[in-house]
Amino acid sequence: MTDRYAVIGNPIGHSKSPMIHAAFAKTAGHHIEYLALEAPLDGFAGKIDEFIQSGGAGLNITAPFKQDAFAYATELSERARLAGAVNAMKFEGDRRIADNFDGIGLTNDIQHNLGYRIKDRRLLLLGAGGAARGAMMPFLEEQPAEIVLANRSVAKAEELRAQYNAQGRITALGYESLKAAGPFDLVINATSASLHGAELPIPRESFAKAALAYDLVYGKGLTPFLRAAKQAGVERIADGVGMLVEQAAEAFAWWRGVRPQTGPLITKMTIPLD
Ligand code: ATR
Repeated sequence: MTDRYAVIGNPIGHSKSPMIHAAFAKTAGHHIEYLALEAPLDGFAGKIDEFIQSGGAGLNITAPFKQDAFAYATELSERARLAGAVNAMKFEGDRRIADNFDGIGLTNDIQHNLGYRIKDRRLLLLGAGGAARGAMMPFLEEQPAEIVLANRSVAKAEELRAQYNAQGRITALGYESLKAAGPFDLVINATSASLHGAELPIPRESFAKAALAYDLVYGKGLTPFLRAAKQAGVERIADGVGMLVEQAAEAFAWWRGVRPQTGPLITKMTIPLD
């Protein structure tokens, strides 16, 4: 039987995962089936049970179910446990094994594809929700000089700082304190502001020496965040297309034992940011 995989979310129509995994399977010479499943907002577990019964071997999980998947798992990787969220699962007998490749997808994209190293750099990470949480451990593993976490709700940034404090130098603050926090080497937008076209109150000082501004969203073109970075003269701006493909490659390798090449697909999927 052809191995069956899927991405599950709500809504799911926009998902690029079926296309990405079909491309990976084709170049690897693997025959897989990869579906897009929409689960009812209150029916995540039932939908997965059904999928497993139909022979499902693995799943990607997208919004709004990453925390439901965390609760559903019987085994969690350390990074999924720390992130409190799961974006990939595999099923072996009664085992529901879970991981989270979002953060590693982001750091791989920044370092290997875009060519900006994180070690010894000063990072500004905007946001303190699920996306920022998932990025913390992979960033800290690269040993940046400092991560400054800025969030609208300072209490949430402070909570995240407290969770990871032992792992590196982290500062939590509100946007109003950014001006005094000095320049950064890399500025990463992990808020959901770009999804709504909302602007973030980032002072020019934050961008003054930045080599890269990265927005985790994909397919939104030049977001207000990226536009502000460009206007401030940041050398390189990027959206989350590379992160999307990189996390998919990690999941594919985890399921199939072969790590697909990501460069050609990222190039194909990249929409110019102007
Ligand atoms: P995700 O899983 O995408 O991170 P989330 O957990 O809902 O989503 O978190 C959304 C993040 O975007 C939060 O950090 C939120 O800030 P608050 O914690 O203060 O709510 C941030 N965010 C969303 N819209 C924003 C806006 N217009 N301005 C500033 N921050 C915003």
